[in-house]
Amino acid sequence: MPLKWSDVTPKPLSLNRRQLIAGAATLLASPALARIEAAPSKYSTDAEPNSLEDISTYNNFYEFGTGKGDPAAYAGGLTVDPWSVVIDGLVDKPGTYDLADVVKGQPLEERIYRFRCVEAWSMVVPWIGFQLSGLLERVGVQPGATFVAFETLLRPEEMPGQASPFIDWPYREGLRLDEAMHPLTILATGLYGEEMPKQNGAPIRLVVPWKYGFKSIKSIVRISLVDKMPLTTWNMLQPQEYGFYSNVNPKVDHPRWSQASERPLGGGLFAGRQDTLMFNGYEAEVASMYAGQDLAVDY
Ligand code: MTE
Repeated sequence: MPLKWSDVTPKPLSLNRRQLIAGAATLLASPALARIEAAPSKYSTDAEPNSLEDISTYNNFYEFGTGKGDPAAYAGGLTVDPWSVVIDGLVDKPGTYDLADVVKGQPLEERIYRFRCVEAWSMVVPWIGFQLSGLLERVGVQPGATFVAFETLLRPEEMPGQASPFIDWPYREGLRLDEAMHPLTILATGLYGEEMPKQNGAPIRLVVPWKYGFKSIKSIVRISLVDKMPLTTWNMLQPQEYGFYSNVNPKVDHPRWSQASERPLGGGLFAGRQDTLMFNGYEAEVASMYAGQDLAVDY
């Protein structure tokens, strides 16, 4: 019999019950979310997760507006079932896959990851997800593929922010193939043992913990295996500020602010800043992928 999420609740979560309950109250106000069973992961950090409330009320999801509270206020009307994902390009089995089929056979894990935004706030999120590599292996990556491109849903009727031309919709992101195949890279379908809140990118979003949060594209409808570096939304908007790589790097400043420190969310008004770690603390796992690259050029 598979373990229930409650059976495998890791220690940091049990220590954080009070915050969990505070967060659950927020979710109760939204439509019921189904619980997801997932095994704990060896890839989790030992940091204590933020409350569900912090994670689901302070968001960036410009399809619903640019304010941090807009996604929680306006994402409720997004239809996430049915949902399908087009997987195309240089793959053996291209097609339009129903979400259930995308997730089928992929071992779901709970992975507690640090998350750091380029705006210099950070939090710790207990995601539920599976390795992107598992899905890519299933559809068969062809030898010519070197990058993976992702697209978010384009549905202005349900995504009021898409009425604004400030972004050339749909929201797009990309990874180099080795980054996409890295075991830390997951497609997340939930958090805190529940289905993904809509404001966090339901029903399926990318999480790449050594990169700034904006690489973690939400509500994905297309995954394309390609042979050229794909366009990415933030690079299209502000190329001098947002490069393709977007690795968390305290040594390379954003042109308008330092990236050397961060403000952990939820610490209260007087909580201190903390030093930002190279690759967001995942240096041992990922630095070798960038050996020989000048990360001030490939920012
Ligand atoms: N994905 C889409 N489709 N649209 C967005 O505006 N914002 C990005 C990223 N993914 C964004 C997106 C940014 S800037 C951040 S910091 C993270 O989502 C925020 O994720 P969270 O709201 O789950 O914390």
